[in-house]
Amino acid sequence: MLKSNIAVGLDIGTTKVCVVVAEKDEIGKLNVLGKGRSNSDGLQRATVVNINKTVAAIRAAVADAERESSIRIHGVNVGISGAHVHCIHSNSEISINQTGIVNDSDVKRFLEKAKTNIRYLDIDHEIIHVIPQEFIVDDQEGLLDPIGMAGTTMRGSAYIVVGLRTKIRNIKQCVEKAGLEISAVTFEPVASGMAVMKEREKKSGVVVIDIGGGTTEVAIYIDGAIRYSEVIKVAANDVTHDIAHGVRALYEVAEDLKIKHGCAYSKLSGEDEDLLIEGIEGRTQKSVPKSSLTMIIEARMMEILELVRDSVQRSGYYEYLNAGAIITGGGSLLPGTEELAHDVFGLDVRIGYPEGVSGGIKGSVNNPMYATVMGLVAHAFQNNLSADHSFASTAEILPVDVPQGSREEPLVQEQTPSGKKIVDRMKKFWDNL
Ligand SMILES: Nc1ncnc2c1ncn2[C@@H]1O[C@H](COP(=O)(O)OP(=O)(O)OP(=O)(O)O)[C@@H](O)[C@H]1O
Ligand SMILES: [Mg+2]
Repeated sequence: MLKSNIAVGLDIGTTKVCVVVAEKDEIGKLNVLGKGRSNSDGLQRATVVNINKTVAAIRAAVADAERESSIRIHGVNVGISGAHVHCIHSNSEISINQTGIVNDSDVKRFLEKAKTNIRYLDIDHEIIHVIPQEFIVDDQEGLLDPIGMAGTTMRGSAYIVVGLRTKIRNIKQCVEKAGLEISAVTFEPVASGMAVMKEREKKSGVVVIDIGGGTTEVAIYIDGAIRYSEVIKVAANDVTHDIAHGVRALYEVAEDLKIKHGCAYSKLSGEDEDLLIEGIEGRTQKSVPKSSLTMIIEARMMEILELVRDSVQRSGYYEYLNAGAIITGGGSLLPGTEELAHDVFGLDVRIGYPEGVSGGIKGSVNNPMYATVMGLVAHAFQNNLSADHSFASTAEILPVDVPQGSREEPLVQEQTPSGKKIVDRMKKFWDNL
């Protein structure tokens, strides 16, 4: 049981680390008590590459959340992602206990059996989740919650999420070095899905796509259970890199252009105009046609969405997506993404904001960028994970001890080949002006 009605989510993303402390209100909604956010530069494509920088970013975000909520944070549900995470389907069958009524320990035994039934698990991988997909009690099929059902045997399938031991260990190490306890580790697409999906969509069949800074996560839900997931190593920071290369500007300037003037779909970009690029640190000021900016962005967003479409087609579930697609994560904030995705997928698309949030500082998390962290909080409540926090007066909160000066150079994101093609074309375009 939760020690009290409070849970904490920790999302260690490629661009930001984010912590949310929330309580559950009487009607089951999440009341956000505090949020902390810091810039993250210790990760590459959702994988830790610099422990010190990641620990510092976690500490800074936790200190903010503690200050805002006046709650001392101990236990957190931390997210994990990266292309190293993959999934295995496993079947299981057990005899129901002597009473003939399915109870909690039958479900636990069923899931344990599903784990041991995995035919092959690399020695360097470990299990992150065992998620039940469907239970069959005697001949009653399609059960999502079998507790209380009468029968003699229970069969069914489970979705087993596994990841590379070393990468999971690095995440855990960072959280522990930041002085926190880990109440659970949750696969991020599962968390994001939980935050943005409506129950009806989950039952009808939906694909949830989280376009983050370093990775794009795909998770498919059919008949109320997760069926497929994939982490793709191309995402919204690649759009910024393309702009920086294409218009020959600093990364920060390119990011600013993207946020202020970016559009993912040329059909919707409106009147063309010249956009001024500041001349930072002695560089001369120049202008870029908005249509060129849109061209660069559209090419990369199209590539991301086509990779997602290919993934969905590979899954074999495309035909079952009656509720279409939900796009979330910071990348979904680019105007035109919803429309472009609609045309690429041939499905209904909506942008996913965290659902089920009430009062508190709701406004501060009402952004697709916070879908993962809100899902981590919701997942902690669903699984009764103790946040093991204690109330603390603001005065008790100690200043954050952020290590000074890291040895490593700023990270350079890798570029994927097809994004590079359009960037090279844009470079030629600029060189010929
Ligand atoms: N208003 C906006 N318009 C366009 N893009 C935006 C906007 N706000 C944020 N982004 C982009 O969203 C991306 C960050 O998204 P998000 O915060 O979901 O990533 P993350 O969780 O840190 O990374 P990951 O999940 O890949 O580890 C960045 O590339 C950023 O440029
Ligand atoms: Mg993310």
